[in-house]
Amino acid sequence: MEAIAAGVLIPFRCTTGRCGDCIVRVLGGGENIPPLSAQESYRSGDRVISGFRLPVAVSSAAM
Ligand code: FES
Repeated sequence: MEAIAAGVLIPFRCTTGRCGDCIVRVLGGGENIPPLSAQESYRSGDRVISGFRLPVAVSSAAM
């Protein structure tokens, strides 16, 4: 949600980590991202292996 609030254009719908619309590829700084939650893993599927994460789910996990 911080990226969206900062003006980064990311498609999103649910804002709770349920739809998967906001999935983005992490290009750097992955060491600062919390571990994958079960819900995020379910929604991201195999794309997690390629470095994709759900920003909304990551923000929720960090709180
Ligand atoms: S907006 Fe639904 S999972 Fe990101």
